[in-house]
Amino acid sequence: MATIAILKEQANGERRVALDPATCGKLIGQNHSIKIQAGAGDAAGFNDAAYTKAGASLHNDASEVLADAELLLWLTPPDAQRLQTLPTGITLVGMMLPSQHPDLLTALKAGRHQALAMELVPRITRAQSMDVLSSQATIAGYQAVLIAADLSPRLFPMLTTAAGTLRPSKVVIIGAGVAGLQAIATARRLGAQVEAYDIRAAAREQVQSLGARMIDTGVNAEGEGGYARELSAAEKQQQADVLAEHLARADVVVSTAAIPGRPAPKIITEAMVAGMQAGSVIVDLAAETGGNCVLTRPAETINSNGVTIAGPLNLASRAPLHASEMYARNVLELLKLVLDEHGAVAPDMADEVIAGCLLSQDGAIVHKLFADKS
Ligand code: NAI
Repeated sequence: MATIAILKEQANGERRVALDPATCGKLIGQNHSIKIQAGAGDAAGFNDAAYTKAGASLHNDASEVLADAELLLWLTPPDAQRLQTLPTGITLVGMMLPSQHPDLLTALKAGRHQALAMELVPRITRAQSMDVLSSQATIAGYQAVLIAADLSPRLFPMLTTAAGTLRPSKVVIIGAGVAGLQAIATARRLGAQVEAYDIRAAAREQVQSLGARMIDTGVNAEGEGGYARELSAAEKQQQADVLAEHLARADVVVSTAAIPGRPAPKIITEAMVAGMQAGSVIVDLAAETGGNCVLTRPAETINSNGVTIAGPLNLASRAPLHASEMYARNVLELLKLVLDEHGAVAPDMADEVIAGCLLSQDGAIVHKLFADKS
């Protein structure tokens, strides 16, 4: 049986925790021992008592939690100093995001750690229950609309009152992937009129099933594996012209467009923003990877000629309880392929999910995306 460790997350403003008490109880039910740092779940709404009730042992110091642990679960990598204190050869399961954590690859090699990157889990049907990109994007899409509703000087629903009739807000969602679809659903629940845009033709049916209208620019840029490909200059112009017309009529824009492994596509130009109505709001969920709007400043909310542009970061952390529960469920599913029938840490290397997310092993970076960057 494995000894599994969970530390308090160290990233600035992070409120999530890698394991919620219910999932902790499930692992303990499988005879694993869980060691957790005191206060690790506080910001997510899980107190220490909930973990001890589930059977976990509580420790104040990270070093006590890590002592004799075979597996460490996290959401995002700890700082460089802590990385150096991890027990040699420990198995790490969490988001690795090597491009945002420059010290990580070196530390993984030096410590001979076996690292499984949750964000690299292949997005195949069998692994949907392990897909942290989807679970966290679901929360982010929902939160983006709440931020937009909060910043907007208007209400979302149509209201007929004694003080007059209010027309519903017009919301445009750019990028109808996991986050975008949740944004559509949330804006619809608030009573807005929603239009959506995506370059993947496959998104149309999903958009319509949520009661939104698809904006048709006549460009289809579906790439490999169902993801978007990069667009040609002519396609981009055609896309821009049609979008500009819709943005000029919008009260709220939530943009979520992304291309895996690349900076976010710049879709909303300065001219488009200038053409928008005063009082309208853009929430740029792609701020994390540079933003879909050229004016977006990550982590800031600015005003450009009366148009409010917000670039919030780490939106999933704004609903830390549900985000942590979903994340932990994803991890629990992956652990089925990491722990063998005796409960020992022995990832099934023949499994394509493990092969797809294995980042480091035996002092080497083994994932093809990062092998020569370490
Ligand atoms: P993402 O976060 O990489 O991108 C978000 C959206 O932006 C995508 O729908 C993409 O088509 C769109 N986009 C990219 N460039 C654009 C542009 N220039 N203009 C407008 N839209 C643009 O994608 P996400 O949300 O992680 O997943 C996208 C799709 O992948 C899902 O809708 C689904 O079909 C598929 N998927 C499959 C899974 C599975 O089978 N296990 C799991 C998750 C996603």
